[in-house]
Amino acid sequence: MPLTCNIDPIAHADHTDITQGLSQNPASISPKYFYDQQGSRLFEAITQLPEYYPTRTENALMQQHASDIARSVGTGRTLIELGAGSCQKARTLCQLVQPACFVGVDISADYLQDAVAALSDDLPWLDARAVGGDMTQGVQLPADIPRTGRLVFYPGSSIGNFDPPHALALLAHMRELIDDDGGLLIGIDLPKDVTVLEAAYDDAAGVTAEFNRNVLRHVNRLIGSDFDVDQWQHRAFFNADASRIEMHLEALANAQVRWPGGGRAFEQGERIHTENSYKYPLPVFTDMLARAGFAQAEAWTDERGWFAVVHARP
Ligand code: AVJ
Repeated sequence: MPLTCNIDPIAHADHTDITQGLSQNPASISPKYFYDQQGSRLFEAITQLPEYYPTRTENALMQQHASDIARSVGTGRTLIELGAGSCQKARTLCQLVQPACFVGVDISADYLQDAVAALSDDLPWLDARAVGGDMTQGVQLPADIPRTGRLVFYPGSSIGNFDPPHALALLAHMRELIDDDGGLLIGIDLPKDVTVLEAAYDDAAGVTAEFNRNVLRHVNRLIGSDFDVDQWQHRAFFNADASRIEMHLEALANAQVRWPGGGRAFEQGERIHTENSYKYPLPVFTDMLARAGFAQAEAWTDERGWFAVVHARP
């Protein structure tokens, strides 16, 4: 049998991706590795924090403008949620717009399976499906998912994790997932007071710090590295020039990290960049949508102008 049969291509891709990022200067780890089982749970806890306004503000917007959003989006659609996670948002949206079919896509496949099963129990009329997959690599949907009447749902300002060229490419990919009769319902976080932004990513209870540090546990499992999680501290700040929150892990002491086939030394104070969270002014974002093939956009924002829900159409 050829040797390649023993290599899990996904695990191999992760290994290459992670070791390359760790070997760069400065080192980085993609935020997609936050979401192991524990990371997904910690993210759920983040969404409940008093400082973390995005989830709460988006939910309030969806509630407040429910009938306008429902009218704009229409019923009987094939709803495709990217990064569906706990399917909490899907549950509310499904009740509102009564889709014929729901497809949840998430990188954390086991967590998603359970969430879609629970959604199915609550909404027995709904044809609900779980698709495990990394949407940063382009979503592959099963062939039997209808192409007409699709609504792609990408809430929570997850698009903010990608730098602008990559975000544009992802929006163009979402445009390719739908026909001319389809749409995209997307949540985006808007620029605001720096103290509000920084508190949201460095909460008093330390949940975001734990979420950030947990990525090292996940990486240890994925590549067999020996990061000592207690030796790394959480850093989060707003980079105004790039209009993004940055999260990093900073070495508390000199550290030598090893993994099979490699390793790296870190000096005290040296950082690993783990996340960017871009904050787009609404006109900048709708311009990006237009360049991705979404000519029409209807947007709802809260009175403080902190967050926007946008229904974009070709
Ligand atoms: C899931 C990417 C939208 O950027 O606000 C929350 C992730 N990181 N706290 C965000 C996150 C730290 C979150 N997104």
